Amino acid sequence: MNRLLLRSKPIVKTYTTNYVAQEVFFCPEESLFYSQCLERMVLNTCEDCNSIVEFGAGDGSPVINSLLKSQFCGLIQGYELNAKSCEVAQFRIDRYNLSDKYVVHNSCFFQRDWQSEGSYLISNPPYLPAITNDLYMPTLHGGTDGSSITKQLLGLDCPSAMLMISAYSDPVDTIEYAIAQGYQVQDFMTSPMNFGYYSSEPKVKQRIAEMHRHGKAFYSSNIYILAGVLFKKSHKLKADLSMELIKMMTAL
Ligand SMILES: C[S@@+](CC[C@H](N)C(=O)[O-])C[C@H]1O[C@@H](n2cnc3c(N)ncnc32)[C@H](O)[C@@H]1O
Repeated sequence: MNRLLLRSKPIVKTYTTNYVAQEVFFCPEESLFYSQCLERMVLNTCEDCNSIVEFGAGDGSPVINSLLKSQFCGLIQGYELNAKSCEVAQFRIDRYNLSDKYVVHNSCFFQRDWQSEGSYLISNPPYLPAITNDLYMPTLHGGTDGSSITKQLLGLDCPSAMLMISAYSDPVDTIEYAIAQGYQVQDFMTSPMNFGYYSSEPKVKQRIAEMHRHGKAFYSSNIYILAGVLFKKSHKLKADLSMELIKMMTAL
């Protein structure tokens, strides 16, 4: 589905009911890319990830799609603040018989003892930059420069983390923050994204333009770059790709 069409309020259709996109995160283009990153960089390749924790499961579709295309045998525990998103996620988990591989808790990630549940973190975190969080969907607010929650996640000292990072949410500072926390970039994937319903909200667009003028947001009139980044604290990596990642994120 073309994300440009989503500038008007989209309807999320499930088998049980319909929700508007102010209730449940709905951006198929972005969720599909997150799912592809999980499949290629996490579920089909990792040896150290039998127990994975997810910040912000949304409607569960990215993890479900990637589980259906992998041989992963461990458990993914997702956390999601929004009750309606959890309801949709639970419906999908049951429909695909994945309850032994994917559990979604309706609670704040930061208030759970997630460390006892896994040391491999995955997330497509909230990254909308805006001065305040009175947005179409307040839980997508990533602080004034969009990177606050990503940095909070990077500060949790997880040995492995696969996080989605947007080129309009101060990517250079975010990657440098990760390096300062002892991370290296083991792998990444990038994709062009259209500005959609949430990122086209005037308050967000204005903030992104302001950040662009200060060299903290990178995009063209048509697209921005979204990256799935695999951060590792292990020092046995063949190469750290953080400089290559910064070049890709700042190319527009
Ligand atoms: C960008 S959406 C991603 C949803 C889904 N993973 C996807 O890619 O389709 C971010 C999600 O994080 C959730 N979220 C925000 N703050 C949270 C918190 N403190 N704990 C758990 N979930 C949170 C939001 O409600 C939202 O569903």
